[in-house]
Amino acid sequence: MNPATNDGTRRGGNFTFPGTSMTVRRMGYGAMQLAGPGVFGPPRDPDGAVAVLREAVAAGVNHIDTSDFYGPHVTNQIIKKALHPYPTGLVIVTKVGARRGNDKSWIHDVTCRNLTSSVHDNLRNLGVEVLDVVNLRAWGNDGQAPGEEPLAEPLSVLAELKQQGLIRHLGLSNVTPKQLKEAQTITDIVCIQNFYNVVHRNDDGFIDDLARQKIAYVPFFPLGGFNPLQSASLDSVAESLGVTPMQVALAWLLQRSPNVLLIPGTSSVQHLLENLAAAELSLPADSLARLDATAAESEQTTKSNENS
Ligand SMILES: NC(=O)c1ccc[n+]([C@@H]2O[C@H](COP(=O)([O-])OP(=O)(O)OC[C@H]3O[C@@H](n4cnc5c(N)ncnc54)[C@H](OP(=O)(O)O)[C@@H]3O)[C@@H](O)[C@H]2O)c1
Repeated sequence: MNPATNDGTRRGGNFTFPGTSMTVRRMGYGAMQLAGPGVFGPPRDPDGAVAVLREAVAAGVNHIDTSDFYGPHVTNQIIKKALHPYPTGLVIVTKVGARRGNDKSWIHDVTCRNLTSSVHDNLRNLGVEVLDVVNLRAWGNDGQAPGEEPLAEPLSVLAELKQQGLIRHLGLSNVTPKQLKEAQTITDIVCIQNFYNVVHRNDDGFIDDLARQKIAYVPFFPLGGFNPLQSASLDSVAESLGVTPMQVALAWLLQRSPNVLLIPGTSSVQHLLENLAAAELSLPADSLARLDATAAESEQTTKSNENS
């Protein structure tokens, strides 16, 4: 597997966001890991962070996920330092809907004032005049599982900023199908970013519905996020194929549905190259069956724990 390629047919192929001329490779990069510990303050190795971004783009990545509340500001400033002026075709997706406390806390804030200042912070720190895609980050039940909070008001603020030419396209994060329907009465939605991976499959039906609408589904925590995936079946499938468990997890997501776009996060060039190489891995049917069985068992365990 050669990770260094600019061939659009590799990296899992391409995806065009609906109703746009914006096409990205399905294997992208998530920049959250580039801030300091707890996604707060500067990274321990600022030159290393710049190197990861430059390596990603050199290897063909043209979809980077970020937020100005990573750091805060730090991750966007590193992206600007590493990549500005941005290469043609690079799509940077950011998100708004929260701010950070001095104690590193994540504070949900979808007031007009915070959304507007967040958009301007993103523009300034990324060094652009218009943001490619802005996701409205809903909070839901615990910050990681969607609830049913109404989105009309905050989304209307972002739709107005889009109207003003500060945003090209809008997406949603941490939402339900019902919230998407409500949002679509206000503006077009090009992507959904929710928690999903090989062992956490709550959004299966949603992904299929989005595929029918040609809307991108971009899983966050594709490798488990703050609790990296650990599973005996991932290990055994990886061993049988001579690859790493994380590569199996990413290849599984790419095979899950053609509207799934990946943004695995890493602060390490070595992990980046391993992750990119996963786009060229094809999982055979028996590996898929083993992974499905484990996911079903883990869902069963989660449900029993919830009921006990
Ligand atoms: N919408 C939202 O609410 C939301 C929430 C969370 C994240 N996100 C976005 O989603 C992106 C991905 O999520 P994430 O970064 O939190 O989690 P992730 O991609 O699931 O996992 C990142 C973790 O896996 C490790 N890792 C990465 N590649 C590896 C490899 N090949 N082998 C072993 N370990 C590896 C990283 O450590 P190393 O740095 O040591 O490689 C890091 O600890 C973020 O960067 C962010 O852009 C969005």
